[in-house]
Amino acid sequence: MEIPFAESFKIKMVEPIHKSTRSQREKWLKEAYYNVFQLKAEQVYIDLLTDSGTGAMSQSQWAAMMLGDESYAGATSFFTMKDTITKITGYQYVLPVHQGRAAENVLFSVLIKHGDHVPGNSHFDTTKGHIESRHAFAIDCTVDIAKDTQLEAPFKGNVDIEKLEKELAENKEIIPFIIVTITNNTAGGQPVSMQNLRDVRALADKYGKKVVFDAARFAENAYFIRMRENGYKNKSIKEICLEMFSFADAMTMSAKKDAIVNMGGFIATNMKEWYDAAKVFSIVYEGFITYGGMNGRDMNALAAGLEENTEFDTLETRIKQVEYLAQKLDEYGVPYQRPAGGHAIFVDAPRILTHVPKDEFPAQTLTIELYLEAGIRGCEIGYLLADRDPITRENRFNGLDLMRLAIPRRVYTNNHIDVVAVALKNVFDRRESITHGVKIVWEAEVMRHFTVQLEPIKQ
Ligand code: F0G
Repeated sequence: MEIPFAESFKIKMVEPIHKSTRSQREKWLKEAYYNVFQLKAEQVYIDLLTDSGTGAMSQSQWAAMMLGDESYAGATSFFTMKDTITKITGYQYVLPVHQGRAAENVLFSVLIKHGDHVPGNSHFDTTKGHIESRHAFAIDCTVDIAKDTQLEAPFKGNVDIEKLEKELAENKEIIPFIIVTITNNTAGGQPVSMQNLRDVRALADKYGKKVVFDAARFAENAYFIRMRENGYKNKSIKEICLEMFSFADAMTMSAKKDAIVNMGGFIATNMKEWYDAAKVFSIVYEGFITYGGMNGRDMNALAAGLEENTEFDTLETRIKQVEYLAQKLDEYGVPYQRPAGGHAIFVDAPRILTHVPKDEFPAQTLTIELYLEAGIRGCEIGYLLADRDPITRENRFNGLDLMRLAIPRRVYTNNHIDVVAVALKNVFDRRESITHGVKIVWEAEVMRHFTVQLEPIKQ
């Protein structure tokens, strides 16, 4: 018999979690206005809200924390982190920041002006927010196949090269850089191929433009390149990372994902002008340039995390767990963005809750049902998150309406994943009886999904 696959770690420290009853969950959810962001974490049994900052650190990361140098300037921890980043990315200038959106804030303060266009592949919300708050425009050039959840394709996170070229040709003067998000979170944790990165670079060179990577999940992207793209199966993850980063001029990083720390981030580049200009904003917003919002011990943990999460075994364990959930959902017939993404499964809610109209928010309704079923917290990545059109104030119903089940790194076992899969199956099996969704009773003007208050529409 073939020896089955198992995790590349064993467990040394545990944190208890608790089940609840359905009537408790009904009460808690009502108190939370049917918005899972408003629940207390202790009211959740299995928390798949995000994979950001929720990973379990390794023994080498915890050991590195003890060696943190907390000097205000020039701490050894900074140089340890910087050297690791340079080794993995090839970028020699590094600015620490407290998380990914802070990297965007600092770098975009240098690069983006009023009226600019920043083309890319499905900009993440905070990336878009930092573009739009500067009165500039995020131009989405993602490949169209990303919208067809049932289509099986290896690199659904790619930039559409034709769309990008059209944008560059028409608006060359007002494009400061192109941003490529690896992996593409919004499209379902879908990877971007090396060929696509190469093609983006070639186009950028043709039009004299720079390229920035939003690299929050770059190691997962490298894993998919190794598994799915010709010519990479014998390369190490670190070799693939170096090649990927050779196609960009700079990166912003939320270290809460692929560096497996609970807080942290950085900007890295070989462009000395950008680094010098960004230093000023770093000092204003984040802190001195050798700590930028991070403790010495956290920079040490970040370095150790990057080192181990750019090893094949660590990534294989992680991504195989996401695939395991996908296989279970295939068994039960639950539709999701195919193939399984790197960090999450994105369940296609309107295909399940066919009786819930758009304006009653199917993905949010599914998220509520899954919580009520077994205390599992997913996250709506759909019509609520899409906000209203800033001019017409109409809801934006033109994108996908998904429920994301993001898997924290090294936190849950496959027994937990079985619970998630069966709970979702149970909701799926009673889908015909779910005929009504929710309505908004209060909402913020932007980024409403975090604080929106909802009410169920009575059946
Ligand atoms: N870029 C991507 C692709 C992200 O997924 C995130 C965060 C950020 C930038 C911002 O980083 O949170 O450290 O400020 N994504 C989290 C998520 C919140 O749940 O997907 P941050």
